[in-house]
Amino acid sequence: MTNIAVFGTGYLGATHAACMAELGHEVLGVDVDKAKLAKLEAGEVPFYEPGLEEVLRRNVDAGRLRFTSSYEEAAAFADAHFIGVGTPQKKGEYAADLRYVDEVVETLAPLLTSPAVIFGKSTVPVGTAARLTKRLRVLAPAGGLVELAWNPEFLREGFAVQDTLRPDRLVLGVDRETAGRAENLAREIYAQLLANEIPFIVTDLATAELVKTSANAFLATKISFINAMAEVCEAAGADVTMLAEAIGHDERIGRRFLNAGIGFGGGCLPKDIRAFMARAGELGADQALTFLREVDAINMRRRVRMVESARDVLGGSLIGARVAVLGAAFKPNSDDVRDSPALNIAGQLQLQGASVTVYDPKAIENSRALFPTLNYAPSAEHACSGADLTLVLTEWTEFRDLDPDVLGNVVRTRTIIDGRNCLDRERWMERGWSFYGVGTPGASRFESSR
Ligand code: UDX
Repeated sequence: MTNIAVFGTGYLGATHAACMAELGHEVLGVDVDKAKLAKLEAGEVPFYEPGLEEVLRRNVDAGRLRFTSSYEEAAAFADAHFIGVGTPQKKGEYAADLRYVDEVVETLAPLLTSPAVIFGKSTVPVGTAARLTKRLRVLAPAGGLVELAWNPEFLREGFAVQDTLRPDRLVLGVDRETAGRAENLAREIYAQLLANEIPFIVTDLATAELVKTSANAFLATKISFINAMAEVCEAAGADVTMLAEAIGHDERIGRRFLNAGIGFGGGCLPKDIRAFMARAGELGADQALTFLREVDAINMRRRVRMVESARDVLGGSLIGARVAVLGAAFKPNSDDVRDSPALNIAGQLQLQGASVTVYDPKAIENSRALFPTLNYAPSAEHACSGADLTLVLTEWTEFRDLDPDVLGNVVRTRTIIDGRNCLDRERWMERGWSFYGVGTPGASRFESSR
């Protein structure tokens, strides 16, 4: 078993730390945020992630998982140091802000006096690992005995534990000149996963960094493709859900990630495609990624379009209208509202004069911090009370299960737009609701009523 330190205890770091302890390793989670550490030490996850709290608590109780703010303690304790801090978008720029990753290396490296491996997990622009390797050589007292490798993380929020313990693949980028120890150590750490025949791809540093960014670029492209088809379907009176179903049967295309709606958000896809474009520009390869501009534009258009649709359904003006927004998280089973299309739409509706009340099963607290002027309700029924229009913007199971009659009794008007095509249209229409989906003939109805 290996002694492991994980730097950063956000979605990525906390999950990685808990899952590595679950594999039997001795793990130390490191963060500068002492309030967060106190929660984690008490076995509490500071965000909503199904299944994580059980794993965390079990391993904290077993003494395999501890937390600290001390880099000295981490440096003395661990043979493997994982970097799991954020790489957000820089303000006013497309590029990624690498200050947190740099900070970990700059602080940790001078403390490494014996052989160790640093594994980067954060999503970074290609070339970052090579740059950090150079810094390590200068900073680490153990010199060449400290290696840097890149081990990108592909976990999805909402499935973080499952994606970490049963990933589709493991990717490891190693420095070809010093390779050896990093790969062996990774094989030891992930031995249980490898025994389950999880594919393990060992490559150079740059390729490993690019695997992550290109995978996210592909997923974003797939979503924008189907959303572009939704636009065409609306114009042509066709149905994008059936179209996705039909093309998805072709295994080369695949049905997953072909759900049209209000587009992608969250802490990864939007900023990752922008950082990818910025980095390609620096490398003189910007032409290769100009299509990502369009992917981004199609995605942002979904939000504007939903606001226009709401306005059209309400007869041309949002002023004074009461709109219920069901869903604020960027996707279900998460309380994350970073770059959430749902909240962005709620904010735009309010700016255009609507009185907006939001309900989300898990993300109200985070939403309130970001959009304090919106109204928040403790249930879907409360949010819909007196509503002229109801919008479903995050496809929580709770919303799929809503009773159209129960909601119908509290709203002022039985009109609903399903921004994620997640509801059973017939069921709602049978109960007297005017129902509009995305990229469906219903959606084209309000197009023609303009
Ligand atoms: C993503 C990648 O999936 C993951 O591999 C990577 O490690 C981090 O980024 P995540 O941000 O957790 O994960 O969410 P994901 O499930 O990919 O969804 C991203 C966004 O796309 C959400 O807003 C979701 O609602 C939207 N989406 C997804 C669609 O609009 N349509 C789809 O068909 C799928």
